[in-house]
Amino acid sequence: MIVAIDGPAGSGKSTTAKLVGIKMGFLYIDTGAMYRAMALKTKLNGVNFSDKENIIRLLSDTVIEQVVDKNTGDTKTFLDGQDVSSVIRTPEISLGVTAVCEIGEVRSKLVELQREMSKKGNVILDGRDIGTVVFPDADLKFFMIADINIRAERRLKELEEKGIEASFSQVKEDIERRDHRDSSRSNSPLKPALDSIFIDTSKMSIEQQADFITELIKKKL
Ligand code: DC
Repeated sequence: MIVAIDGPAGSGKSTTAKLVGIKMGFLYIDTGAMYRAMALKTKLNGVNFSDKENIIRLLSDTVIEQVVDKNTGDTKTFLDGQDVSSVIRTPEISLGVTAVCEIGEVRSKLVELQREMSKKGNVILDGRDIGTVVFPDADLKFFMIADINIRAERRLKELEEKGIEASFSQVKEDIERRDHRDSSRSNSPLKPALDSIFIDTSKMSIEQQADFITELIKKKL
């Protein structure tokens, strides 16, 4: 079974998808982390985030993998064999990834990888184009939304927990900027699939979100 979760930044996709993965024994694939890993590769090679040509050149020499940590249920992201799960969350990478993920060649490579990884069994994936492009025939599609202030608060808390310093206004601005750019790009823009189920998570807990999705999965299994 393929479960797709799309939605804007901070709407609760990743935390919910991870919990559903644990509850249902599904593999959780964090596609945003893959684009972030590519942005990190760009930075580590001293390439500008807007330098499309050189980013495309780096692609053939880039290995991105995701492995589920059996103890925590966390999906860890590896870049060229190194665990980069934390370092891809910095504000600098959040800023740079928007340009990197617009490159057609980057998207093709990562979409292919996401489809390949999903052959392993039951999977839940979160991102921006899962229900529209990666798996238009997914068994279940969700589109998560939430009030912008709540999304910014959640992101700020996540960053604080990771020891990354940021301000509320900086995080809110970053989310608004990324949502606008992700929604208005021509290649695989952020938009709900016609057959997706909307979940407004503004007033929901992670548990409630996960339970809502889990119940629907159980009905389909
Ligand atoms: O979900 P996130 O914030 O970790 O995603 C990082 C960036 O990657 C975000 O700006 C949008 C982009 N992205 C994308 O274009 N397609 C996806 N399937 C997932 C993320």
